[in-house]
Amino acid sequence: MKKYSILLTLFICYNLLGQNNQVIDPFNYSISKNDTFSKGSVASAHPLASLYGVKMMQEGGNAFDAAITSQLVLAVVYPAAGNIGGGGFMVAKTGNKFLALDYREKAPSKAFEQMYWDENGNPILEKSQKSALASGVPGTIAGIFETVQFTKLPFKQLIQPAIDVAENGFAITEREANSLNKLAVEFKKYNHHITAFQQKNNWQKGDTLIQKELANTLKRIRDFGLKGFYEGETADYIVKEMKKGNGIISKEDLKNYKAVWRKPLITNYKGYEIVGMPPPSSGGIIVAQLLKMVEDKNLDSKIFGSTESVQLMIEAERRAYADRAEHMGDPDFVKVPVETLISNSYLKERMKDYDSTKASLSKNINAGSIKESEETTHISIIDKEGNMVAITTTLNDSYGSKTVVAGAGFLLNNEMDDFSIKPGVPNMYGAVGGKANAIAPNKRMLSSMTPTLVLKNKKPFLVVGTPGGTTIPTSVFQSIVNIIDFNLSAFDAVNLPKFHHQWLPDEVFFEKDFNKKTISELAKMGYTIKYREAIGRVELLKINNNFIEAVADKRGDDSVAGY
Ligand code: DON
Repeated sequence: MKKYSILLTLFICYNLLGQNNQVIDPFNYSISKNDTFSKGSVASAHPLASLYGVKMMQEGGNAFDAAITSQLVLAVVYPAAGNIGGGGFMVAKTGNKFLALDYREKAPSKAFEQMYWDENGNPILEKSQKSALASGVPGTIAGIFETVQFTKLPFKQLIQPAIDVAENGFAITEREANSLNKLAVEFKKYNHHITAFQQKNNWQKGDTLIQKELANTLKRIRDFGLKGFYEGETADYIVKEMKKGNGIISKEDLKNYKAVWRKPLITNYKGYEIVGMPPPSSGGIIVAQLLKMVEDKNLDSKIFGSTESVQLMIEAERRAYADRAEHMGDPDFVKVPVETLISNSYLKERMKDYDSTKASLSKNINAGSIKESEETTHISIIDKEGNMVAITTTLNDSYGSKTVVAGAGFLLNNEMDDFSIKPGVPNMYGAVGGKANAIAPNKRMLSSMTPTLVLKNKKPFLVVGTPGGTTIPTSVFQSIVNIIDFNLSAFDAVNLPKFHHQWLPDEVFFEKDFNKKTISELAKMGYTIKYREAIGRVELLKINNNFIEAVADKRGDDSVAGY
């Protein structure tokens, strides 16, 4: 009997330690760039979001439970992009079923095509990018509640870490301190009150960021569900903020917002199943097009970073982004010829004029400059049952519209700028568009977000995604071929330098440490070369037979966790 009770005690202790041993200290945490795990893992833009997500799995939840907790914690600890005032997309696998959830923001019902033009027809970019008029109706909380049907734990448990960290604060990283300091002038300009992100002195690494109003909003969501955000007190605060900043989101807009299930975009690349997000994101189509355009061109016999391989990939990118500008938009408003765009015959035709010896030229219309600082965020998750979740979510620019909803404590997106505000006028990512992505009431703006799953022999192989505006699909494409064709390790596939071409402007962007010889050879072939600080912040999980290789991009505070 005694022996039995000792064994029982040991068993309980083992379980307590093994399963629930995650003591997370928001004032003392560290970044883990890569690791291997046997059961479940989360890779996200912030260590606390990854750790709390994994904690939910250890407490009996699955990848969907983790996804909700990680997203909500990110909204607190990574306010530049984690959000409840923005929107996103989820691509997931549960059992043998694939899911694609669209919780993209939509244009308010009072929006109209020329809402960002002055009286002479010139676009006013400040209006589409800053302050309350730049915001679409937020989708994140609707997306989270659509996800709840796949979870195992009570929602109250999933949201509590975010509430605690908002209420009691957490220690900010050096990167966060720097970016809050950089934004101080804009926070002042685009708010009529002092936000939680402002303090008298400059922020320093390790300072505590407390967000009481955000904690109260999260409590309303905990207690009243969807209505805690889209109706009642929170909706009142949002509409009040609209009035102050000439915004047009109404109570009806909020109440009517719905997340939408879409048909996941599934394509095959060299025997791998690629599962992507369909419109209103362009991401899934672009990645499918890029992979198919290079599929018969022996990428696997070329070397990573070589002139040969980069030139081929640039030419594929040029063609895919030309299609994006012309054909892609909200499928509930315009017909997007998805099947044609990703069909083998169409893509063969697109590459017919491909010449491996020289640069082709993009039509030269209104090419715009590309801004360098951008924030979206991606979360990659897998659990021990093989559920895979890829979520990319955003406020669009860093800290969105820079406007914090007074009383509710969260930042609003500036997603309206993702519409083509005037045909041929580049948005903040230099992307141009026309009719398909013109503003209309209740329409969703075209996105580049590309949460992606890759399966090998029907089994989980990769969960991948990244922020980066229009560079998102090219970064996801490169991460996939880096592994499948160039045989790079998961770590190198994420961290080695990347490049990007998007048809217009007709320039190739390279990260500064890209192979110099390749760059000078491409310049000789006629490519215009530009440099960028960082392209993407990829979160990648690679599933090998018995273990998960988790990698968080070196380019940010991104961090992996698992067990
Ligand atoms: O949906 C889109 O494509 C953009 N709003 C994404 C913005 C973004 O990735 C900014 N981040 N780095």
